[in-house]
Amino acid sequence: MSDYDADDIRQPLADTSKQPEPILRGTPITPERYYAKDFMDREWDKIWTRTWQIAGLQRELSKSGDYITTTLGRETILCTFGDDGKTRAFYNVCQHRGMQLMSAPSGNTRYLTCPYHGWAYDMEGTLKFVPDVADFAQGNPCGKLNLIEVPCEVWAGFVWYNLDPDCAPLRTFLGPIADQIDSYPMEEMVRTHWVTVEGNFNWKLVQDNFSESYHVPFVHPGAKFVIEYGYQHCQFDHYPEGHCRMFMPGAGPAEAVKGGENETLASMAEELKRWELNPDDYRGGKTRNIRRDLQRQKRKLGLEKGFDFSSYHDDQLTDNWHYTIFPNLSFSLKPDGNIWLRARPHETDPEKCYFDMWYMTLFPKGETQYYSFVMREFVSIDTPAVHIQGPYGTVSAGGAIDEDLDIWAGQQRGLRSRGYKRDYLSGQESRLRYFHETLEDWLAK
Ligand code: FES
Ligand SMILES: [Fe+2]
Repeated sequence: MSDYDADDIRQPLADTSKQPEPILRGTPITPERYYAKDFMDREWDKIWTRTWQIAGLQRELSKSGDYITTTLGRETILCTFGDDGKTRAFYNVCQHRGMQLMSAPSGNTRYLTCPYHGWAYDMEGTLKFVPDVADFAQGNPCGKLNLIEVPCEVWAGFVWYNLDPDCAPLRTFLGPIADQIDSYPMEEMVRTHWVTVEGNFNWKLVQDNFSESYHVPFVHPGAKFVIEYGYQHCQFDHYPEGHCRMFMPGAGPAEAVKGGENETLASMAEELKRWELNPDDYRGGKTRNIRRDLQRQKRKLGLEKGFDFSSYHDDQLTDNWHYTIFPNLSFSLKPDGNIWLRARPHETDPEKCYFDMWYMTLFPKGETQYYSFVMREFVSIDTPAVHIQGPYGTVSAGGAIDEDLDIWAGQQRGLRSRGYKRDYLSGQESRLRYFHETLEDWLAK
């Protein structure tokens, strides 16, 4: 039996209403923005140093002395968990001579000690110890030359930071999307996959790609048997904060698919069996019944199978709720896990970036091993993801994401061609245009 309390509803159900369409300028998405150094420099000044970014997981900073580091362009950021239980973010730079302070991606320490001359800071960023302090004629720097702190918040199981000391709070930045994500028990999810691809493409190609489903039948030929991509059958929303949402019905073939019964059933067999449905019952042209049947079964059997679905709409039990957050984050939410995708800018080269994929698995209550229907493998709650990083072509971010990766390098070359002038977009690619117009607005601020 589950020990969930059925009355314990975490959050009100997410608002699914269709948002008003924005008025778009329709100005050209000029190719230079994907390779020009001066455009990259403007993005650094106006976007990367002003928008909320994820540093890592809340659970990585759970006890006093825990720290993580992360990079954004030329900066590295250090996040710590203090004796006072507070999570903080700092520029990862020693105030003596500018040495990068912590080089490990994570760790636990009493003091943050600089490897150059041994200045040591506590988790609150206060300089506590300086060798040969009597030799500083200008006075003891302890307590004065502290680490430079930046805004930091913990939300949805992640640690977020913003390099703008005057930034709006994270929830203001996210707008109504924050409430929708709260319907997922993010803090309970475990990162079971973590890959960083050193990409040979501009970071915006990633956000462009995750802003439309137009490419799905061509780039992901297997996906159409289990997910809707047609613009007539998905819901697209734009939010005034510059973020977007896309509802893609799942658990069955796209409306445009003729046949493909074997592909749908093979792809869904494990999930159907877990929810006590027989794949063979859907033979003979009945695969379009799976979605509603699966929703009913999950609603009926959820608690006994270790899931509290009380904060989900029925559609959330089967569908992909895909979000793009300005400027560089996107994620797809499923009831038992979600994939988070983002591209961070390269230090110096506009034609390179770092593409991160995290898969967060929600393990059923009481289970330590779980078959992830999205990642298509067994995962264990006791073995969180090891970070795998490497150049494009040497590491895999998973089948469907690898298919997207194969596009970006080729598109980067095409956008630099003298033979390409500007975009010509379909209706559903308005989210891509909205992303670029939001980008232009931030650059103009
Ligand atoms: S640069 Fe850090 S102690 Fe000298
Ligand atoms: Fe894709």
